[in-house]
Parts: sequence; structure tokens; C-alpha cells
Amino acid sequence: MILTLTGVTKSYLTAEGRVDILKGVDLDVVAGEAVALMGESGSGKSTLLHLAGGLDRPDAGLIIMDGEDIGVFGDVDRANYRRTKVGLVFQQFNLIPSLNVSANLSFHAKLAGRHDRAWEEELIFALGLDGYMGRYPEQLSGGQQQRVAIGRTLAARPLLVLADEPTGNLDEETGDRVLELMLTLARSAGSALLFVTHSMKLADRLDRKVVLRGGRIA
Ligand SMILES: Nc1ncnc2c1ncn2[C@@H]1O[C@H](COP(=O)(O)OP(=O)(O)OP(=O)(O)O)[C@@H](O)[C@H]1O
Ligand SMILES: [Mg+2]
Repeated sequence: MILTLTGVTKSYLTAEGRVDILKGVDLDVVAGEAVALMGESGSGKSTLLHLAGGLDRPDAGLIIMDGEDIGVFGDVDRANYRRTKVGLVFQQFNLIPSLNVSANLSFHAKLAGRHDRAWEEELIFALGLDGYMGRYPEQLSGGQQQRVAIGRTLAARPLLVLADEPTGNLDEETGDRVLELMLTLARSAGSALLFVTHSMKLADRLDRKVVLRGGRIA
């Protein structure tokens, strides 16, 4: 087991008062497995990914990643966790605008101390990015930027890739192809994958589906 959530709760304070989003989420992810996280809009999927990614803290419950409770981490430990254990791929690609594709691709792997030139070459080739290494993010299409974002995450071989609808703004055919690539490459990297999607068709391609409903995994 690389990730175990037990009784995880999260509420937000809004102008209208407290809203309980996660009401006791239990979830296990095994090393190397690909899990689809589904659920209606507003059910808390992104909230859950932010917690697992160490971007935010749960109100209660345990988030055990690779044997450590990340919910109690201080800022330094959380930053270290994000740098070394998880990889995030969101719809907003968050590429670094001042760096070219080549530097963007190796950025996280270098931060994580796991830069591996041969693996990076394999990713570049598989993602069809070989002709674009000198370009800057603004000179790429959305789909190309997305492939750089995926390559950048997988280059660091994280234990777990958290992907929040990473193919959501690509056309269906491109989205399917990118997911297929992500799956194959995550397997080569040995990374587990927690993948948010609204598409049953995409979810069916993963090892397992879980649904977030009423603040819990149904
Ligand atoms: N920072 C915040 N402050 C207050 N409410 C928030 C905050 N972030 C999210 N929410 C609310 O929490 C609920 C869950 O949001 P979340 O983004 O996790 O849903 P989601 O399942 O990812 O939805 P979608 O499929 O539309 O992306 C929503 O009702 C949202 O409005
Ligand atoms: Mg979301």
C-alpha cells in the first residue's frame, strides 16, 4: 500500500457558513495501480487530490503515504513530500514560462534528485516532443503543453501521480491517446496513478474505479 486515507474530513468556510465536503473518506492505493476517481461536479475530487498531494491539510483523519502521515507534516516536510514523492498533473499545466521544454521536462526530476537522462529521452520520444525541446510553453498548443506536463511529472518517477482531469480540455480522441500514454508511461515509471475523470470510457481503462459521493467513497 502506498497511499491510505482513513476517515479523512475537510470543510470549507464560506460566506454562507461551513460546508462539509469530505465526511470520512477511506481509500487505499496499491503501489503501481491506476485508480479512477469519479463523482459529480462539486463532490470533492479536487479537494481530495489537493490533500493527497500535500497542497492542503485535512481537518481530521489520516493520510498515510509511503508509511508517513502527511496530514501532520509542517511546511518543510510538506514541501519535501511534494518534491520527492508525488507528481501532480492538473488541467492548468503550470509549466514554467521562462524555461524551454527541455528545462521544464527535467525540472522536477532534478529537484527530486532523480534526473535520469535515458528515461527522459524515452519520455520525450513517447510523448512526441522531440521536435519541441527549444520552444517555450507559450509557443505550444494546449495538447503539447499537456504532454510536457505529463512528461515532467513522470520524469521524476514519483510513487504516485495525482492527475486532475488532465485530458479534460483535449478532444476525445486526443484525450484517449494521452491517457493511454500516461498509463503505459506510469507503468514503466512504476508510479501509481489516481486519475480524476468524468469519462466512464477513460475510467474503464484503469485498474479500478472509485466514486466520491456524499463526502465518502461509495
Ligand atoms: N477554497 C474553497 N473555499 C470554499 N469552498 C470550496 C473551496 N474549494 C472548493 N470548494 C467547494 O468544495 C466543493 C468541492 O469542490 P471540488 O473542487 O473538490 O469538487 P470536484 O469534485 O473537483 O468538482 P469538479 O468535478 O467540478 O471539478 C465545491 O462545492 C466547491 O465549491
Ligand atoms: Mg475538480
